[in-house]
Amino acid sequence: MRTQVAIIGAGPSGLLLGQLLHKAGIDAVIVERQSGEYVLGRIRAGILEQVTADLLDEAGVGARMHREGLVHEGIELLVHGTRHRVDLHKYSGGSTVVVYGQTELTRDLMDARAGAGLTTFYEAEQVQVGGFDGNAPFVTFRGKDGREQRIDCDFIAGCDGYHGVCRASVPKDRIREYEKVYPFGWLGLLSDTPPVSEELIYANSARGFALCSMRSHTRSRYYLQVPLTDNVKDWSDDAFWDELRLRLDDKARESLVTGPSLEKSIAPLRSFVVEPLRFGRLFLAGDAGHIVPPTGAKGLNLAATDVKYLSAALIEYFKERSEAGIDHYSERCLRRVWRAERFSWWFTSLMHQFPDDGPIGTKFQLAELDYLLNSEAGLRSIAENYVGLPLDFAEGR
Ligand code: FAD
Ligand code: PHB
Repeated sequence: MRTQVAIIGAGPSGLLLGQLLHKAGIDAVIVERQSGEYVLGRIRAGILEQVTADLLDEAGVGARMHREGLVHEGIELLVHGTRHRVDLHKYSGGSTVVVYGQTELTRDLMDARAGAGLTTFYEAEQVQVGGFDGNAPFVTFRGKDGREQRIDCDFIAGCDGYHGVCRASVPKDRIREYEKVYPFGWLGLLSDTPPVSEELIYANSARGFALCSMRSHTRSRYYLQVPLTDNVKDWSDDAFWDELRLRLDDKARESLVTGPSLEKSIAPLRSFVVEPLRFGRLFLAGDAGHIVPPTGAKGLNLAATDVKYLSAALIEYFKERSEAGIDHYSERCLRRVWRAERFSWWFTSLMHQFPDDGPIGTKFQLAELDYLLNSEAGLRSIAENYVGLPLDFAEGR
């Protein structure tokens, strides 16, 4: 078969790209390794920047997010037992974030795709991409029915996440990788219990980082910093709740409602970027090109903005026969990506216990937090970065 854009991966990047292209009348087919249910079962991000929420509106899938998403104007930092509120709205000049789970966003995009009758191949095996250095890129795979398939296309969009095939198909001498692996992971637990607080709590405690987040007024998401050697099977729900209590303050301990876990998993923390993000007629977008530690809540948002830049570039190519957008895609994304990478690394460094840094590392963190939380400039810096950059932040500079 033939299409204009072959999209590899039906995570948030691939689905949003498909939707934005469809709205512009550009034909795209998605090839995904897993089943739709598997993709929906992955519990990941929960915080949308305003820019991402606007993009969902632009893609025509924002209605449920507006109905069910929770708008947050602030976050709380809990520093060794003392709470400080960061007024995001005030210090960012009026911006907010929306609590809306990646699962829900993915479901909205899947439903829109199915409703429009667009083609997605789920459970595709042995996906391979080729020909992107010339004018005839193609994708091959074995379909769910066992048949070998080939898609010829004008462009390939690599939206296949960190473990995908697209980045791996680029010759090593044409791609540069930057990577930092952190010496701990996040153990996450999802439960049908009311959130402990109205806003998210990011806790720096002597026992390690903890995060109290949520999906709705009745569903909570909590995380604990754990050693990389920990195994999720060794963490009972009771052990999780006990450890979380120890990392919170009295107020949160008293109001914490516990319950059975709906999901529990450990995610390693990594900062990772590849340069460039374009190789001839192959583009990388989202986690395929970069990973941030989740502390700054930036991963899904960066994926969404990559896709906005990529869809605009492809629309410009097909409608105006101009290559300016695709020529600038990599540079445009990377400037934004590095800004988010820096914030995510910095916020991670500020809030976690680093086993090798010892007591002086903790003292440095406390002094920096003391400065930041008592300074207008410090609060503005946290707020501006947390709510995210506008889409056109680098234009004209
Ligand atoms: P993915 O979601 O990884 O999707 C890629 C898709 O490609 C997958 O469906 C995969 O099955 C498919 N695929 C892979 N290989 C192939 C192949 N060979 N062929 C075909 N298909 C393939 N981000 C935020 O912004 N805010 C948060 O609060 C936040 N919290 C997070 C918490 C945790 C615990 C984790 C792990 C991540 C969090 N993130 C957060 C990051 C966010 O989830 C990711 O950045 C986001 O999923 C990226 O979307 P993507 O579509 O680029 O990649
Ligand atoms: C989440 O709700 O999963 C979440 C929220 C904020 C983060 C990371 C994860 O920084």
